[in-house]
Amino acid sequence: MCGIVAYKGPKNCYPILIDGLHRLEYRGYDSAGVACLNDGKISITKRRGKVIQLEQGLKTDGKFQNCDGPGIAHTRWATHGKPNQINAHPHKDQSGNIVLVHNGIIENYNPIKKFLKSKKIKFKSETDTEVLVQLIGYFFNKGKLNFEQSVRAALQRVDGAYAIVVLNKKEPDVMIAARKGSPLVLGVKDNEFFVGSDISPIIKHTQQIVYLEDSQMAIIKDDEYKITSIDKDVSLPKKVEKIDFKIDDYDKGKFKYFMHKEIHEQIDTISNTITGRAKKDRVYLNGLLEYWAQIKEADKIFITACGTSWHAGLIGKNLIERFAKIPVHVEYASEFRYNKTLIDNNSVVIAISQSGETADTLAAIKKANEHGAITVGICNVPGSSVSRETNCGIFTRCGHEVGVASTKAFTAQISILYLLALKLAASNDAISKASLRSHLDFSENIKKIKNVLKKENEIKKIALKYKNANDFLYLGRGLNFPIALEGALKLKEISYIHAEGYPAAEMKHGPIALVDKNMPNVFIVPKDKTYDKIISNIEEIKSRKGKIIIITDSKDKILRDLANDLILVPKTNHFMFCHLATIVLQLFAYYIAVGKNLNVDQPRNLAKSVTVE
Ligand code: AGP
Ligand code: GLU
Repeated sequence: MCGIVAYKGPKNCYPILIDGLHRLEYRGYDSAGVACLNDGKISITKRRGKVIQLEQGLKTDGKFQNCDGPGIAHTRWATHGKPNQINAHPHKDQSGNIVLVHNGIIENYNPIKKFLKSKKIKFKSETDTEVLVQLIGYFFNKGKLNFEQSVRAALQRVDGAYAIVVLNKKEPDVMIAARKGSPLVLGVKDNEFFVGSDISPIIKHTQQIVYLEDSQMAIIKDDEYKITSIDKDVSLPKKVEKIDFKIDDYDKGKFKYFMHKEIHEQIDTISNTITGRAKKDRVYLNGLLEYWAQIKEADKIFITACGTSWHAGLIGKNLIERFAKIPVHVEYASEFRYNKTLIDNNSVVIAISQSGETADTLAAIKKANEHGAITVGICNVPGSSVSRETNCGIFTRCGHEVGVASTKAFTAQISILYLLALKLAASNDAISKASLRSHLDFSENIKKIKNVLKKENEIKKIALKYKNANDFLYLGRGLNFPIALEGALKLKEISYIHAEGYPAAEMKHGPIALVDKNMPNVFIVPKDKTYDKIISNIEEIKSRKGKIIIITDSKDKILRDLANDLILVPKTNHFMFCHLATIVLQLFAYYIAVGKNLNVDQPRNLAKSVTVE
């Protein structure tokens, strides 16, 4: 689940590749490496850690200034083998002729490795990737196949998902890229060629983009290129698209961490996401226009996603069922892709993804498309794979989300789902105009986010009190159960403290066994129809001496009496309360992580976008 960038053209490749790797670091950051063909030799530099370490390594070795041949680069998120320098990509074959970067997993690497070992090929790394480069080298060095034929022969023998770029010092004018399962993009500009896992490392150099389709290869030779399938050497049409959007440079502004900045951006990102889409008593979701007639007739809707986006999906279910009275089934994309989920050409499948590159979500969309369902993307990145693979969709308008822990994308996703639920309700006459109008009047409620952000110091003080806890329970009901899940996930991701989210009453069915005087329990308590019930749940924990942290919009004394700590948010409607509680929980997790001196933006073991299964 890495980032790949490659360059072939007249310029020095290093600055292009390093800039590209920085842009791709969201895909993994445990190690990075670059290889370039220079004067008939392959020069490889790899470092454990972040791209900055690789960049420093290149500068120290005096390499950065100078490479006149093609180059390939990689930032890794280890799947097979420890994240160390040896396992970092690029990998070479035994003869040292072939060098390769790879995103994905070679599933049948074991039998191939056994076979190659029987041919006296020695392996240096623990990766599945090295098996592929050795296999290409094995075919090439037998002398019967040229470079292109060798790559083709090797790829026809591997199973799994991959995007690769390969160079061969015996054919220095050729660069080969191929994909199956994992996305890969080619950028072309006169006599220059760029390859990337997505357009982010390419778009500042050229807007002429070829999105490679599944099981396709691009063979770039001298100043020409051809596209073929992996199976056959028959040229396919070159589908060059002009992509005219810019990717801005990242900027933390006055904040130390992107996550902190992104939490603070939420008034704007929620407003941007809603603006123009909610007007008086009408909802405009133009991205769905072409398919709306079918979408509104759906008798069941499926939502699929991973992680935080899946939590947004649970909120979507609650809202669509509540307003539009259409049953909704929410399933993790990693399960949806393999389960016998009952979809057909009357089904509507909504896929939610911030990055638009999550491998499981893409596979779920593929499955839904194959069954003839209408696929709807809710996604933050224009041009991403999710936005391209779905029939129609709606963009969250958050701008880059850089922090690995998703914050502003979540509140934008649930805003879109709210609009979608209301639009479905309106189309099916399940809501009155007056009620719709009041639900769509966001102006005053959005401002309340400011009041929550003003409480930052109070939230920080409370967070620091609990930074040494080992376990947390997060408890909420109805719409706030997914908010509890999301709060617990935020804490886990960036502070490495174990946390679980549950529907508040469900806690009695097991998790309560964990509760003792050291355990903080975060309750999300709006003054709604389950208010009295949740107070009983708090009492149950209190009587077992658990610490109680309450987030509420109620000034009732009973809550103050029960709470060890209480954060009061302004009164608003049920839906906006979710936003306010979410922002409190994001800040709470953030300050615990900062209090523990952790790298909030790039937590250990994680990647912003999970591009392997
Ligand atoms: C969120 O904080 C996580 N980093 C993670 O769960 C994420 O939401 C998940 O990987 C899905 O990503 P996507 O929205 O880009 O598809
Ligand atoms: N499976 C390969 C490895 O572990 C590639 C992982 C990735 O996509 O970063 O090295």
